[in-house]
Amino acid sequence: MPPISFPSDPPAPLRLGVCYYPEQWPKARWREDARAMRALGLGTVRIAEFAWSRMEPAPGQFDWAWLDEAIDVLAGEGLSVVLGTPTAAPPQWLVEAHPDVLPVGADGRVKPFGARRHYCFSSPSLAEATRRIVTAMARRYGGHPAVVAWQTDNEYGCHDTTLSYSPAALAAFRRWLRARYETVERMNEAWGTAFWGLQFLSFEQVGFPVGQPTSPLPAHALDFRRFASDEVVRYNRLQVELIRAHAPGRPVLHNFMGLFAEFDHHACGADLDIAAWDSYPLGHVDTAATFLTEAERQQWARTGHPDLTAFHHDLYRGIGRGRMWVMEQQAGPVNWADWNALPLPGMVRAWTWEAFAHGAELVSYFRWRQLPFGQEQMHSGLNRPDGALDDGGREAAQVGAEIGRLLAAGDAASLAMRPAAVALVMDYPSLWMAQIQPQGKDMAGFGPMLAYYGALRRLGLDVDIVAPDASLAGYALVVLPGTLHLDEALVERLRASTAVVVAGPRTGSKTDRLAIAEPLPPGPLREWLAVRVRAVESMRPGRTLAIDAGEHGHGVGVQWRDLIELDAGNAAGAQEVRVLARYEDGAPAWLARGRFHLHAGHVDADLLLRWVDAAAREAGLSPLAPEALAPGLRLRRRGQWLFAIHRGPQPAVVPVPQGAIPLLGGATLPPGGVGIWHLSD
Ligand code: GAL
Repeated sequence: MPPISFPSDPPAPLRLGVCYYPEQWPKARWREDARAMRALGLGTVRIAEFAWSRMEPAPGQFDWAWLDEAIDVLAGEGLSVVLGTPTAAPPQWLVEAHPDVLPVGADGRVKPFGARRHYCFSSPSLAEATRRIVTAMARRYGGHPAVVAWQTDNEYGCHDTTLSYSPAALAAFRRWLRARYETVERMNEAWGTAFWGLQFLSFEQVGFPVGQPTSPLPAHALDFRRFASDEVVRYNRLQVELIRAHAPGRPVLHNFMGLFAEFDHHACGADLDIAAWDSYPLGHVDTAATFLTEAERQQWARTGHPDLTAFHHDLYRGIGRGRMWVMEQQAGPVNWADWNALPLPGMVRAWTWEAFAHGAELVSYFRWRQLPFGQEQMHSGLNRPDGALDDGGREAAQVGAEIGRLLAAGDAASLAMRPAAVALVMDYPSLWMAQIQPQGKDMAGFGPMLAYYGALRRLGLDVDIVAPDASLAGYALVVLPGTLHLDEALVERLRASTAVVVAGPRTGSKTDRLAIAEPLPPGPLREWLAVRVRAVESMRPGRTLAIDAGEHGHGVGVQWRDLIELDAGNAAGAQEVRVLARYEDGAPAWLARGRFHLHAGHVDADLLLRWVDAAAREAGLSPLAPEALAPGLRLRRRGQWLFAIHRGPQPAVVPVPQGAIPLLGGATLPPGGVGIWHLSD
């Protein structure tokens, strides 16, 4: 490889990049593209994540010439490269020689070659082929000065591929069960196989929890989810270790998805240096966020939802232990939602600034140019298929210039993220539990989490999203938005903290085997709270129960409620329980004992805002007045900077703190507007 003099990316805390596929374009265009990227203000280019068949056209025969050249061309224009391992697209020769690479769907049918992600995480042949290609790639480019980071694979689990029902997966699942339970008797006990006579005599009898006439044992289903999650983590770790061995000092990341919880991202993220994610605000609103109402989808169709994107920035910043990148940023209409709207003018810029406000180090647009062929031909890019700059490209260039202004006004240290005062606990297994036994059709998924997150954000509060085993030291307010299973260690950490704790309905209701917490929910919190849940009910959409919260307003209960009774076995504790709101039939809707608040059901968004506001004030925080932020307006602080992003339909006045010095935007923001201020403290 010829030596390259590479001016490494300016060590700026705010960087722009783009996703590029040199293998899809004539070589003659590469240099011109690289120059245009640089001219636009982009510094980083991610390449190669689907190019396995180009790198290894036949088993063990590698063709690096094109990739050497592509990297050199980019580096020659001063661009740095994020190199993706190409395992999301195994070549046809591999699946022909080793059909066990292919995943099997829940219907028992093999998912054939012809798109991407056609692999089963448990396939031994996949592991072997992965070792070969990742090792070869990392050896070749690990020390390349232009290759500044590595991405493992692409969007694990995308297209519903976390779970595979292949013979290899079944064998691995049985091994996993044996390691977990050691004896089949223990597994029978843990799963509760006494129900419907489902005892197993050996691990070899265990099948997949799918296809039965009705639902399988919940503990069986949960263990399959845990196993599948462990398989993703193991596969990712294999790649990370190979890359680290040959690319020392280069951070390794994965590009996770939005609204996706099929494996434990905390466990996967623990092996990475940076958590990256792919941000498609309009696709998420239109199709992926099933908990939104039709009216909300209409309202946010061209801007994205005011909390959904920010939620993921905060989530992945936590998963990356402070380091978060947006690896793919929507830059125009996508092709994969049910309906694919055009972003409101200004939104590509606003999404970029929002990502930076929440701590992103890099925002990388998807993709450089719209490709006129293939499955994603209707997916926009920064440039149109004819090569002209598209609207998203112009907005990216604008952000590039604005970053220059910000960095001229403040150094990198002024942008260092500070811990938030509020922590929201995100527990992946609890989401699986709710999916396996929702008990109310709309009770599974991200809805409850977004409801609490949205209430906090409407009050102007910054939020850290943390794992259940994270330290809670320093947080004034900790929110458990329906963590079905809490382990004793988390309860201990909550008790040892001084935080005000707010728990949503169902918190602590299940054991780790997806049985009812003993002797009744809220399980490990029962002693602290001195209450128990005697019954639950879920409510169809449209059915509501009036709630009177006295000074904290009136509203309605929706979706779910826990019917609470005081713990007769803990009379002293029960005496200290304050009932702060009641349903129309007199049942408690909101209770507290000491600094612990329990919401005994889901309530409408405005009422939740009032309850969260009360808890935040009790925690010593200074939330904004509930009506201070106009619909769609959100604030986020990063270091000494305050950012405002506005998605609402009307111009909005930003409650700018006294003494703040404006850098960008004014005190009144138009729809799609961005404001940035330097704060004095
Ligand atoms: C992502 C994926 C990209 C591209 C993009 C289109 O899920 O990582 O390769 O398909 O979506 O929006």
